Amino acid sequence: MPMFTTRSGGDHVTVPEERTGVDPAVFREVIGHYPTGVAVATGFDDDEPIGMVIGTFSAVSLEPPLVSFMPQKSSRTYARLAKAPTLCINVLAHDQLSLCRTMAVPRGDKFDQVSWHVSDWHAPALDGAVAHIHCSTHSTVEAGDHLIVLCSVEAMAVNRPVTPLLFFQGGFGGFSPCGTATRGDAELIGALRHADSARNHVERLAHDLRCEAAALVAIGAEELTTAVSACGGTASRVAALGERVPLTPPIGEAYVAGARTEVVERWLAKVSPAEPDLVEHYRSRLASVERHGAALSIVDPQERAAYDRLLDALREYSSRELTPARERAVREALAQTRQFFEDVELHEDGTYDVGAIVVPVRSPDGDISMVVRVTQLPSGVGGQQVKDWIRTVKGAAAAAEHDLGRSCGPGSHKAGLRDQLLWYESDFPL
Ligand SMILES: Cc1cc2nc3c(=O)[nH]c(=O)nc-3n(C[C@H](O)[C@H](O)[C@H](O)COP(=O)(O)O)c2cc1C
Repeated sequence: MPMFTTRSGGDHVTVPEERTGVDPAVFREVIGHYPTGVAVATGFDDDEPIGMVIGTFSAVSLEPPLVSFMPQKSSRTYARLAKAPTLCINVLAHDQLSLCRTMAVPRGDKFDQVSWHVSDWHAPALDGAVAHIHCSTHSTVEAGDHLIVLCSVEAMAVNRPVTPLLFFQGGFGGFSPCGTATRGDAELIGALRHADSARNHVERLAHDLRCEAAALVAIGAEELTTAVSACGGTASRVAALGERVPLTPPIGEAYVAGARTEVVERWLAKVSPAEPDLVEHYRSRLASVERHGAALSIVDPQERAAYDRLLDALREYSSRELTPARERAVREALAQTRQFFEDVELHEDGTYDVGAIVVPVRSPDGDISMVVRVTQLPSGVGGQQVKDWIRTVKGAAAAAEHDLGRSCGPGSHKAGLRDQLLWYESDFPL
């Protein structure tokens, strides 16, 4: 294999051409089934910023730090980029498709249309990119109609830790961690119909209890989603429609307690750390929630800051920009919030701040299909008041169950009537 030295001083290697019987269309088709990230390689040719989109960016070596990309030999943009002393590899974010399209077109005024700045390593850095990797050309390998450009990394930083833009089968898309992927339309519509039966009851709860009330439905096995929400009193809307809550201990206990064994075991399998004592603790907490028919979380005023961190973690989980690394961090943060999900004995003369009351709603086939949740309740109330609220939320959930039975089949009518009575008559000491 012939080897020779390039103008820039690095090694220039030629890979010998080998004829194979692969049809170019088949090559494209098969390679298109492998997804790539999308980056823009930028640099200055004299003082003019130059850039090209690359789907071939790759990490090569840690020691020494090397990366690579593969421009077409015929690329006029790369011919100019090769002269830049420092290159910047800009890893594009999921919301930078239009920037990608602008940078992929062979024209001179691309940088007038995008937001960028001159980095400390004197390369054009695109604003909003996930990461900036500053490097210089180490060596170039000729490989068929492309070059393999090996670069030494000089500096690198994550600029915006959001999900990246991906290229797959000729189209652009984003990344969804397994388990939080968007569900099919049919499943979503079915779940939303279920939640619709809770709408009136959720609105009434919000009004009567002067709080935020919501119905959350299960979409898939891993999370609940806010499908209906309403505010009363001075409560403000925190649970936006579509907000997602992970079924990760200690979160989601009202949905899991009393659910089918596989749902319970899947939830318990996520206890972190997976110590037998802790798993047993959660198992008995589920039994207690099932017995009481409601999950109550109480916030000690001294723990308000920790509770706010729990709400922040839930908000971050629900954001669409969660990367797998952040999702792991958020799940770990949630695992630290066990203290808000302990059994509490309510005393008449006690004073309580309620974080949430959550009650399950069963579908006519007996499965738990959603939960009704109230939050932002007035603080500093007595034990009897909390018990009254629990009874009211249970009544609302029972009424939603009744409506669900009516809308889902004749066999459920009797059970529905029984549940409706609960709305008025029951008393549930917790
Ligand atoms: C998603 C995507 C990935 C691309 N990856 C590469 C690549 O790895 N190598 C390359 O030479 N061109 C790649 N291109 C094409 C170039 O970005 C650009 O269109 C081309 O360089 C313009 O022609 P010019 O280089 O002659 O100016 C890619 C384009 C897109 C949209």
